Amino acid sequence: MIRFTALPVLAVLSVLVVPAVAGANPGRDAILAELSAQAKDQASGFAGFDAGRGDVLFRHRHTGGKPATPACTSCHGPSPIQAGETRAGKVIDPLAVSRTPERYSDPEKVAKWFRRNCNSVLGRECTAREKGDFITFMTSQ
Ligand code: HEC
Repeated sequence: MIRFTALPVLAVLSVLVVPAVAGANPGRDAILAELSAQAKDQASGFAGFDAGRGDVLFRHRHTGGKPATPACTSCHGPSPIQAGETRAGKVIDPLAVSRTPERYSDPEKVAKWFRRNCNSVLGRECTAREKGDFITFMTSQ
């Protein structure tokens, strides 16, 4: 008897628990799929996103943007797993998905902040490849 009643409970539990453990996130997958399609359109040699390039984009000191914010780390701090701070002193939750699991799952939020922050730091919009590399890096952290 116990076997028959326990099975459905286990099935429900695995549905609830497995996505959280595996980090699966349909919203983020859809955003990455869209960026991948755009990156292919923008460059014929596109061969997938790369966490290493995302790491460099995050840490590099860029020129062309606002002098007060030469890098993503200017606000987000040197480590993706730690909180950052706006220049006005407001805390920003870590960008790493392991620390802030809801990151990169709302297309409007993602688009808004890439537009604003890439313009501040690089003086231009980020390309689809740069955005996908960045999210891929942050998902690996
Ligand atoms: C002037 C400060 C500042 C700089 C510089 C900055 N950011 Fe941000 N960023 C923020 C704030 C504030 C938020 C919104 C608060 C939050 O999401 O916790 C944010 C959020 C984001 C998000 C949204 C994440 C999500 O939850 O979906 C992305 C993507 C992002 N930033 C990327 C970047 C990248 C890439 C750079 C460097 C090119 C960068 N940021 C530089 C302040 C900054």
